[in-house]
Order: sequence, then structure tokens, then C-alpha cells
Amino acid sequence: MIQNIRGTKDLFFEEILKWHFVEEQFRKVSNLFGYNELRTPIFEKTEVFQRSIGETSDIVNKEMYTFIDKGGESITLRPEMTAALVRCVVQHNLYNLYQNLRLWYFGPFFRYERPQKGRLRQFHQYGAECIGSPYPESDAEIIFLANSIINSLNINNYTLEINSIGNLNSREKYKNELINYLKDNFDKLSEDSKNRLNINPLRILDSKDENDKKIIDNCPNILEYLDDESKEHFDLLINILDKSNVKYSLQPKLVRGLDYYSHTVFEYKSNTLGSQDAFGGGGRYNNLIEELGGKPTPAVGFALGVERLILIMDNSNNFVDLTKKIDFYIVYSKYEYFDKISLISNILRNNGYSVIFDIQRKSFKSQLREADKLNAKFVIIIGEDEYRNNQLTLKNLSNGLQKTIPIDSIEAINLYL
Ligand code: HAM
Repeated sequence: MIQNIRGTKDLFFEEILKWHFVEEQFRKVSNLFGYNELRTPIFEKTEVFQRSIGETSDIVNKEMYTFIDKGGESITLRPEMTAALVRCVVQHNLYNLYQNLRLWYFGPFFRYERPQKGRLRQFHQYGAECIGSPYPESDAEIIFLANSIINSLNINNYTLEINSIGNLNSREKYKNELINYLKDNFDKLSEDSKNRLNINPLRILDSKDENDKKIIDNCPNILEYLDDESKEHFDLLINILDKSNVKYSLQPKLVRGLDYYSHTVFEYKSNTLGSQDAFGGGGRYNNLIEELGGKPTPAVGFALGVERLILIMDNSNNFVDLTKKIDFYIVYSKYEYFDKISLISNILRNNGYSVIFDIQRKSFKSQLREADKLNAKFVIIIGEDEYRNNQLTLKNLSNGLQKTIPIDSIEAINLYL
């Protein structure tokens, strides 16, 4: 038997109804904030991601699904959306059309990671990007949107961790301090962190190694190295969050795994998820658009991992009554009556009702059983009498009441329901 690829998931039946529910909230809440949906292809030229996410990041280094296509071009299945979205915005000059570009997306992404609970090789993100404003108001808007999405899914038990990694100047100053501090503890660092020290020292702050963690506990605090511009941006944002009653926790060691960030970075965490506890993350990326060939344009955004959102919702029993109801199930006693069945079902479907009928030539009894199993609200019965008299019997399955009506009046069936 051929099986699906490790780290991917087939979705069907009840599971897909959960997805419909969350996707509906994504659409609804994005509309409430005036964001427009954007879709891009699931693969891009490899350089889109290489140049933006960073050569030293885990994503580019180890996790990308990259291949040479038949034309000899290096192609990558998108590991995230921000870079692809920026490619699209720059290519189509979208930021000339609107002063402030508000975009959202939902779709599959691909990373070659070790699969475990909440970590897949094909996973899905909902995300949003606010392009064009350098001000903390837009960071706040993005956080309000993320919070609203999370609230719309009835997820309450989570932490928003937030930090600033400042502008380039502040970050360079901090990096030097950090390298000095870590060099003093070099022998005690894990091999991974030793390797990272000169390549990407900030990522050491993210280390899961217990010894590294002890060393990092006492390392210099990035917030103390912010220059005036960086500090003002972050203070203003924190002030807005306080005044808007947004709960957050300052986390000076939060650096995120993608290189394009500057200033604000944040992550959403839930303690119901086990080791993969981050179900969302984002931040500001003021230089990325220029780096990908566009005009210098500030931007901020976030993405939520949909599988992780659904795991949290499952854990807190947030999905209630997802059973799909069908409006009508048509039961008929002879398959020769099929002409009438197709006529009736056409009219009902044209009027917006969902209809199922038997196509297996099942017995009358087992058709009725199936109507029950499929949660039909009404059964339409065409027996011999009904067929002869051009009538149908309508039975309400919730109260058992039934009436017989002329088939010709089917257009006005709502009067009989
Ligand atoms: P990210 O933190 O790499 O950020 O991914 C965002 C979320 O996607 C994670 O918090 C997690 O929930 C989910 N995720 C990532 N990898 C996996 C995986 N292998 N399996 C399941 N879920 C996963 C970004 O992707 C940035 N583009 C976010 C952003 C948008 N920053 C600015 N704008």
C-alpha cells in the first residue's frame, strides 16, 4: 500500500469541518480589519527565500524543499509566505496603488523538519502583512488582528511574547556585546552554539540546550542596547498595547529564526502544545522589500500555524457540533423513478438546498437508515402511490411529522417545512 509522505496529513470527514470553521474565521476577521486576500504560487525561484530568510537560518540551511526543474532552474516549495508576498508586491508594484497595503493569506507551506506532534513537513499558515507604515500603530494593528483571529477561535490560554531587536545599528552593537560575553563562556557552549557564534550569534539566544540556557540566562539584555530611534518605536508600541489592555510578556531573548526582522518581534505560545509551543510569530521587516528589489518600504506582519491552532482547539474542546447536516434525503422505492428524483433534486438544489439520494439501488429501508446516518433534516419519499399521483411525502426527521404535497409545488417547498 502506498502511504502519504512522512510529515504530511490527509484531511477528511470531521477533520475537514474543523478546517472549514477556522478558515471561515480567517476570512471574516480579516474582512473586519480591511485586509485583502493574496494568493501566490506554492513554489518560487529559490533566491526569493535564500535572499530574504537568510543563508544562515535553519530554514534556508536545512529545511527547504529545493529542486532543479526540467529547465535547469532552482525552485523551492515555499517555506513561508512573507518573502513570496514581498516578491509579488514588488513585481506588481502593488504599493503604488495603495498607500497602505493590508494583505492576508492562508495556504500550505513546506519545511523539511523532523516530524512530531505539531510539526509537519507540509503545514498551513494564516498570516497577514501590513506594508507601508513605519509607525508603531501598524505593529499594534497587526497584533490586534492576530489577537482577534485567536479570540475568534475561542483560544484563551496563550501568551504573547514580545521583544525588540532594534534597527541594524543597535543590533550590531548588541551582537558585539553578546559575542564578547559568549566568548568568555565558549568552552561551555554546545557545539551548535559554538558554530553559530560567528555566523549568527543572536540565534544562540534561542538554544534549547540546557547548558547554553544557563549561560544565556545572564547574557546582556538587548533592550538595553536599543538606540533612540529603536527605543522610541518599541516604547510607543508597548504604550499602545498597555492602553489597549493587550496582555503580553516582554521577552528580551526572543529573536526569531528568520533574518529579515528589525525592531518588533513577537511570538504566540500555548502550554497545551508540548515542545512545539509557538503557534504563531511575526515582526517588523523594514529592509526586506528593498532587499528584494523594491522601493524602501517598512512593513510588519505575522503568521499563525493552523495545525497548531487546531491542536489547541482540540485540547480545549473548542469544536462543538460540527456534524454536517444535509437538507433533504430522497428515498424512492424503485430505481425506475430516478427521472423524477433528478428533477426534484435539481429544483431543490437550484433553490439552495442540499440534497442526497441513493445511487446504489439500495432497499427502501436502508435508504431510510442512510438518511438518518447522514443527518438529513427532511426525507422526501417517492413510493408507488406518490409516483403515480405526481406527489411526494415530506417527513421532518426531527419531529417525525409528515405531509404529502404535489411535486408541482416543489418550488415553494419552504412553505411546507
Ligand atoms: P514562523 O515562526 O517561521 O514565521 O512560522 C509561523 C508559525 O507557523 C509558527 O509559529 C508555527 O505555528 C507554524 N509552523 C512553522 N513551521 C511549522 C511546521 N514545520 N509544522 C507546523 N507548523 C509550523 C514565519 O513563517 C513568518 N513568515 C511570519 C511572519 C509573517 N513574519 C512577518 N510576517
